[in-house]
Amino acid sequence: MAWNRKDLLDIESLNQEEIEMILDSAVAYKEVFTRSIKKVPTLRGKTVVNLFYEPSTRTRTSFELAAKRLSADIVNIAVDRSSVVKGESLLDTLRTMEAMKADMVIIRHSCSGAPHFLASRSDASIINAGDGMHEHPTQALLDAFSMKEVKGRIKGLTVVIVGDILHSRVARSNIWCLNKLGATVRVVGPSTLIPREVERLGVKVFYELEEALQGADVVNILRIQKERMQRALFPTVREYSHIFGVTLERLRAAKPDVTIMHPGPMNQGVEIDAAVVEDPRTIIREQVTNGVAVRMAIMVLLGMYRGVADEDSSESQ
Ligand code: CP
Repeated sequence: MAWNRKDLLDIESLNQEEIEMILDSAVAYKEVFTRSIKKVPTLRGKTVVNLFYEPSTRTRTSFELAAKRLSADIVNIAVDRSSVVKGESLLDTLRTMEAMKADMVIIRHSCSGAPHFLASRSDASIINAGDGMHEHPTQALLDAFSMKEVKGRIKGLTVVIVGDILHSRVARSNIWCLNKLGATVRVVGPSTLIPREVERLGVKVFYELEEALQGADVVNILRIQKERMQRALFPTVREYSHIFGVTLERLRAAKPDVTIMHPGPMNQGVEIDAAVVEDPRTIIREQVTNGVAVRMAIMVLLGMYRGVADEDSSESQ
């Protein structure tokens, strides 16, 4: 099967084969990190733009490193110091990047659907780096890659997603991705942070953490997204932590070899206890490492579709 998409906008529209193609390709790119020169010439001479309208540490840096390891030229637009503050629209900003011959634009935006809006109006490949409460596809792909690396499979795993499901684009993308790959997905959190009718996405809903964790293979812990809340949806952070904070004691309900994940950024002592972060079953740092490999794989697949990537991507520079 050949990759047949100009853009990477969401997980919902990808099929199982496309997801597996990305995960399989990422294995080869991770191998590049073990070399003394962590670089391949695949996207040499190509131009990638990071356009982030919301804060980011991991995703923005990871895309930048991924582009550099593929030998592309990458430009980071600091939106708060760009002409966006003078009122330039999203579309005009894109047109400006296109005029400078950008091949790929990576966008994070607070509006759900912003990447789709751009993709239908641009010749450049658009990659969604998180749009509002909608999706964060590359996070779900790196999470799936990380799970598969540790567990050897995704199919048949029981994965528990804990916390603020309502505002989480990570949760939505993970649910789509894990269901397509054959995992069983549970979500757990306060009823005010669970979207109505989320069962329709193919998940089982729990309101008690220990109950949700029973027999779990993987637990993926999410941050409370206060910046997206219009009003208080739980009494206090302390109370949230008391009921839904993941501790080593609570993890005893899961399988002894449970894999513990968090997309970051973490609020230690709120949704995750410091002892859990340091537990050897926790793979939060590996997730970050894998993010670079997965994003390299995505950029190469999009580049090959556009006819701008060299086929032999394993060759050192
Ligand atoms: N996981 C994630 O998207 O982190 P950043 O907000 O730091 O990019």
